[in-house]
Amino acid sequence: MYTTLKNVTQTAEDLNMTIGAFNAHNLEMMPEMIRAAKEMGSPIIIQTSIATARYIGFKVMVAVAKQLAEDEMVDVALHLDHAQDFDDIKEAIDSGYTSVMYDGSQLPFKENIAKTRAVVQYAHKHGASVEGELGTIGGTEEGIHVEEADRIYTSPEDVVEFVKETGVDALAIAIGTNHGQFKSKTEVNIPLLKEIHQVTDIPLVVHGGTGVKEEDYPDLINNGIRKFNVGTELLVNWTKEAKACFAETPVNKSLRHNVIPANLAVKEIIKHKIGLFMNVDSPIKVAQ
Ligand code: 13P
Repeated sequence: MYTTLKNVTQTAEDLNMTIGAFNAHNLEMMPEMIRAAKEMGSPIIIQTSIATARYIGFKVMVAVAKQLAEDEMVDVALHLDHAQDFDDIKEAIDSGYTSVMYDGSQLPFKENIAKTRAVVQYAHKHGASVEGELGTIGGTEEGIHVEEADRIYTSPEDVVEFVKETGVDALAIAIGTNHGQFKSKTEVNIPLLKEIHQVTDIPLVVHGGTGVKEEDYPDLINNGIRKFNVGTELLVNWTKEAKACFAETPVNKSLRHNVIPANLAVKEIIKHKIGLFMNVDSPIKVAQ
């Protein structure tokens, strides 16, 4: 079913797992991304940057995601990643995206609240979900670079006020992760995550998932991470595979010979991640 972020994170909460939010970098990889979720028996969040949504077309993305959700019988939410401009958000929602991220993390706290609240009002009126952000995630995303030294961790007290005042459906938090980190791994601040999780029930979101050690996944999942973003790892491996294939394939052979192996590389990564995201080693939470 083509569905919302709110619905899939609720499933994640019920099953004490996290939902993979995978950045689609082109249309080619979309079918295998969704088939990966189908084979693993998990919902999936497909997310695009604004630049990718424009390159493909917002409505084309929606049509493809909807059709694949129906054909493959998988719960698929389509999410706009890191939007800062209300016009982009409006375009995504009006085109049929089921979820948007409003990233006001660079703004003063009160302004972030006010602008996020306005996005929530518009989105909820149109049946879409909203992810907000508090604190700053390191690395580069959408052309904005945050130096390690300038990174601000999310404050648990701010979380309570932000969630109450904005009505967001999910919250991205800064706990030491960085966007685009693919050559090394980061130290995630698990004690801070625990503090945040103790003060809120809001589904929490990890950005910069490529740079997170897989051995940290259970701690993240058991402390409220319900959306786990992975982008760079897919991009890097699609490109590596495509480069190798293009180098070997005669120019008059179908492009399928170059593109299918790259799509399948993405599929295998997603299946591997989803296997870990399902947190099968932990017992399913039972209400006390
Ligand atoms: P990575 O590209 O570092 O995996 O991060 C993805 C992300 O957080 C998108 O917002």
